[in-house]
Amino acid sequence: MSETDLKNNLLPPPRHIAIIMDGNGRWAKQRGLPRTAGHAAGGEAFRRIANYCRTLGVKYLTVYAFSTENWKRSEEEVAGIMRLLGRYLREALADMEKNKVRFRFFGDLSKLSPELQKLCMDAQNRSADYDVQVNFCLNYGGRDEIVRASRAFAADVAAGKYRSEDLTEELLSSYLYSADVPDPELIIRPSGEKRISNFLLWQSAYSEFVFMNVLWPDFSPGDLDAAIAEYHQRNRRFGGT
Ligand code: FPP
Repeated sequence: MSETDLKNNLLPPPRHIAIIMDGNGRWAKQRGLPRTAGHAAGGEAFRRIANYCRTLGVKYLTVYAFSTENWKRSEEEVAGIMRLLGRYLREALADMEKNKVRFRFFGDLSKLSPELQKLCMDAQNRSADYDVQVNFCLNYGGRDEIVRASRAFAADVAAGKYRSEDLTEELLSSYLYSADVPDPELIIRPSGEKRISNFLLWQSAYSEFVFMNVLWPDFSPGDLDAAIAEYHQRNRRFGGT
C-alpha cells in the first residue's frame, strides 16, 4: 500500500461498515434546536453516507438507529425518531426499483407500532433480491440478541434438532439477527464517545474501531474516507502474529 493509494483511498473499501450514529442531541443543543431536529439532521446524514457507501462499493452498511435502551428517552423524542424512520421507509419503498437497496432489520420489531412493523416487513420483503444491503438496528441490543439466539438454540435442543455439544460459533451466529451477514471489518463511532454501547457485541470480535470527533449530523463523505484510510493503516492480525 503506497502513500498515494492511502491518500486517494484507492484501496478497496471494507465489505461491511457499521456506524453508531451518535451526537444528534448535542448537534441540536449547539443550535438551540429540539433534539428531534438533531435526529432529522442525523437522518439526512444517513442518506448522504448510505449513498456514498454505494458509490464506493461497500456491500453492507449497518447503522444503530434505536437501541433497546433508547425507550428511556422522552415520549416526544422516541415518537420523533419513529416518525423519521417511518418517513424514510415510505420513501425507500416508493424509490425501491430506482435505488435497489436491500433492507434488513436487526432487533425486536414487535415493540414498534404495527404501522412501522409493516413498513419494515414490506421494505425487507420487497428488497430481498437486491445486492447492496443496509441493516437497520431497531430496538436492538447486542446482549439481547445473544440471549435470544441462546434461547432459540435451547428450544431446538429441547425439540431434538440439536444436541448441546453441537453448538459452535458458526451455529450460534446462524441464530443471530445478522445470520448470513459477514462481520463488519470497520465500526465507526462519531461524536467523541469511545464506547461500544451494546452494539454488535458478537459480530465486532475482530472489527477495527474508528472513533471520530465529528457529530453525526455533520458526518461527511470526507469523514468516511478518513475512517476508511485509518482502517487501511491498521494491521489486522486476527490474533496471529
Ligand atoms: C444517538 O444520538 C442517536 C439516536 C439514538 C437516534 C438515531 C436516529 C437517527 C439518526 C434518525 C433515524 C432516521 C433515519 C432515516 C436513519 P444522541 O441522541 O444520543 O446524541 P447525543 O449523545 O448528542 O445526545
